[in-house]
Amino acid sequence: MTSTKKTLKDFPKPTRQHIINCGYPVWYPKYRSVIGKARVVPLTAGFLEYLREDGIVLPDENLNPPTRDSDSGVFSNANDDDDEYEDPSYRFADIHEAVKAAIAELGGAVYPKLNWSAPKDASFILGNTLKCATASDVYLLLKSSNFVTHDLEHAFDDTVDTPDEDGRVLQVSDIAYALVLRKWVEVIPSVEFRCFVKDRKLVGVTQRDMNHYKFLEDGRDEFLRLIKEFFEKHLEKTFPDPNFVFDVYIPKTLVTDSRVWLMDINPYAIRTDPLTFSWTEILNIDPHAEDFEPEFRLIGKDDPEAYNFSSSNYSAHKLPKEVVDAGAAGPQSIAEFSTRWREIVEGLDNTDLQDSSSDEDAGDDAEGGDAGDGGTVDDKGKKNDEGGKDKAAATNI
Ligand SMILES: Nc1ncnc2c1ncn2[C@@H]1O[C@H](COP(=O)(O)OP(=O)(O)OP(=O)(O)O)[C@@H](O)[C@H]1O
Ligand SMILES: [Mg+2]
Repeated sequence: MTSTKKTLKDFPKPTRQHIINCGYPVWYPKYRSVIGKARVVPLTAGFLEYLREDGIVLPDENLNPPTRDSDSGVFSNANDDDDEYEDPSYRFADIHEAVKAAIAELGGAVYPKLNWSAPKDASFILGNTLKCATASDVYLLLKSSNFVTHDLEHAFDDTVDTPDEDGRVLQVSDIAYALVLRKWVEVIPSVEFRCFVKDRKLVGVTQRDMNHYKFLEDGRDEFLRLIKEFFEKHLEKTFPDPNFVFDVYIPKTLVTDSRVWLMDINPYAIRTDPLTFSWTEILNIDPHAEDFEPEFRLIGKDDPEAYNFSSSNYSAHKLPKEVVDAGAAGPQSIAEFSTRWREIVEGLDNTDLQDSSSDEDAGDDAEGGDAGDGGTVDDKGKKNDEGGKDKAAATNI
């Protein structure tokens, strides 16, 4: 058996269709009864272009809804005495309105994500939270996140696909992007679990939060029973692919029974973090073995994972200090930072840099960033679609 042990090289690349199937906008209609309240806002080319652009310019939350100058086609606002500043939401007015409405309908605070990823790597910008109270909070997080950029530019990296009957292979441009806004809830991380499905069998379950919780040991059988029942009832026969990874949340209060909520569905692919498992282990599980039982893996008291000394999560994705400071100081400061950022970017675009010693230096500054001057806030690809203004309609969940 050891000689036939599979290694990561044997890991099958996911198909592009599988990646699509794991996107929230695709699966949520099927699982409405077991997911939290949310709105899904289909994204237009104009908004995607805004997300992909370098720099962060936020809508002015204090302005009245924009009006359009019918002669020139240039949007203008009666309150706007700043000639240089163009409110970016003019380019995606429908989406901006849908986002504002969704936040209000969902109780004033939302948790945002795109088709697959939440901007977790940018949470420090709002003071270490993804709780968004305004549309600008949402845009700031999305525009600052490399995880979101991955959704936009690299969703089909490391995938395979065979052409369909017409000889076409799915392309990134075929993806129907959407913004998912979930009603903000104070999630208890200790009762979040990641579950691996192979050949339509539940093969492994792990806690998501990498800390030791004694009560999980005590409740091990009960949690596993609930997850198995949930899988069999809702996912086993309905998810289109035989291999996938799903996340559940099982809160329990003193007055309610435990209820299993579906939090997410992730690709069966190396890009999905296997947490306390390794993908090689999962690869070598035989769900068809006699008396097979899924393993429920918890972090023990003395496990090294329980002591997260080394580095904070997503530290490789962090941004210049000015951004962090602005985030920690709250929304007002973010607004000020945004204004300051705009000035810097406009300065770069205009005369200041032409006055500097050489054009090359100017290019370096503009791209590489100098933390003292705000620096480069993101490293988005520059793929630009034609701006479009399709109607944005938020779908209720
Ligand atoms: N509605 C919500 N309100 C508050 N926090 C939430 C909400 N939904 C999810 N979270 C928290 O955010 C975390 C990440 O959410 P989610 O799994 O949707 O992101 P993701 O980008 O798909 O993550 P991963 O890369 O691990 O798959 C969850 O583990 C949960 O703790
Ligand atoms: Mg996920």
